[in-house]
Amino acid sequence: MSIIIKNGEIVTASQRYFADIYCENEQITRIEKNIEAPNDAIVIDATGKYVFPGFVDPHVHIYLPFMGTFGKDTYETGSKAALIGGTTCFIDFCIPNRGEEPLSALKTWNEQSEGKAACDYTYHMAVTGFDDQVEEQLKKIVSQYGISSFKIFLAYKGALGVTDDELYHTLRLAKELGVITTAHCENPDLIVELQKKYISEGKTGPEWHYHTRPEIVEAEGTGHLMTFAEILDAHVYVVHLSCQEALNEVMRAKKRGVNVWAETLIQFLLLDKSYAERPDFEGAKYVMSPSLKKKRHQNVMWNGLKNGFLSTVATDHAPFDFETQKPMGKDDFTQIPNGIPAIEDRINLLFTYGVKEEWIDLQTFVNSASTQAAKLFGLFPRKGTIQVGSDADLVVYDPEYEGTLSVKTQHMNVDYSGFEGWTIKGRPHVVTVRGEVVVREGTFVGTEGRGQFLKRLPNHF
Ligand code: URP
Ligand code: ZN
Ligand code: ZN
Repeated sequence: MSIIIKNGEIVTASQRYFADIYCENEQITRIEKNIEAPNDAIVIDATGKYVFPGFVDPHVHIYLPFMGTFGKDTYETGSKAALIGGTTCFIDFCIPNRGEEPLSALKTWNEQSEGKAACDYTYHMAVTGFDDQVEEQLKKIVSQYGISSFKIFLAYKGALGVTDDELYHTLRLAKELGVITTAHCENPDLIVELQKKYISEGKTGPEWHYHTRPEIVEAEGTGHLMTFAEILDAHVYVVHLSCQEALNEVMRAKKRGVNVWAETLIQFLLLDKSYAERPDFEGAKYVMSPSLKKKRHQNVMWNGLKNGFLSTVATDHAPFDFETQKPMGKDDFTQIPNGIPAIEDRINLLFTYGVKEEWIDLQTFVNSASTQAAKLFGLFPRKGTIQVGSDADLVVYDPEYEGTLSVKTQHMNVDYSGFEGWTIKGRPHVVTVRGEVVVREGTFVGTEGRGQFLKRLPNHF
């Protein structure tokens, strides 16, 4: 089966031009003006529409055992929601429990994902402890299983968080293997002490979450990672950066020559801490870590994106139901499962509030939501661009569409939307994955289970 996309404006991270795209055997095989369609080809008219490379979300949690419960999406529901929102490939996190062997966690994640995803995917391999056996297994995971990025948590002390010697040895090994280490940067001890302080003062509601994870706590964690990365000459990627103070640490480190990249989230570009202060426990919907910050940081995040100080926009998709899961922390905000779902909404929100509001241009939009993630994590040029030989992952995007986000219409398997009532101006008209049409006008029309695990090579020597 072949597909031809006609008359659209192709937008990549570096170019804008009009041409037709022909796809055969899962790949893009021709990009030319006025391609004649063979009789049996599926023809997609992209007149008046943009044609973007499939979007890549480098930070999602699909299978997520966390804080005593599980994220609500599965590989079936999460991948379909991703596709409807234009994300054709995502990177989940394979996270061993403390003391669990990495290969055991990998088996668990594979059992959750294999034959279930509708889009392509891979994992970052989390390191939650370090000894000789872990080192041997991580080497195998990189060389045999094709996972070329690690993840460490500096937060979540006593659970997923690593100690400084574990951080040191993870970055040492990452450097040796040529893999990049992604990191959640917040000072773990400050969080624990501040949590104890506020809870003991009877300050138990979701609005106090921010006060235990203010800007300076994230900045300290970020600077801490920069020190270790500098000493070990390791390549590091700061996940979910939320504020100016943490970005300053990244930029200071970049000036010193540290190999660092940073990601922000659509949530940090658009939401602020007042959402977590909503009455009647509604603020719990907005409890995530790092916390939502003061509104002043949003301009800094947009400018960071525009100027390339921030490389990617992700979601950190972590869906926990408001009715049944967030109340685990009804009397103690430290027990509220952390996360705000967004895998379905990232692209439409970034287009509406980033491109249409003129914070970023179309190329920066594509770069930060697709190309950079593909390049940093060893998926480029298979993913992240439109060129002959790339996978035929394409988003024919309608910039004239107008709609409203709501839990009533979303496909994410969670009982609330963090963006309830928000207007979107633009959405995918057609989405393809490896040459199959998988979405038309907001409806999934693809094949469940067709998504592939993507093996990646190390590329950070
Ligand atoms: O609140 C968040 N971010 N939940 C998911 C786990 C993580 O730290 O990324
Ligand atoms: Zn995190
Ligand atoms: Zn995360």
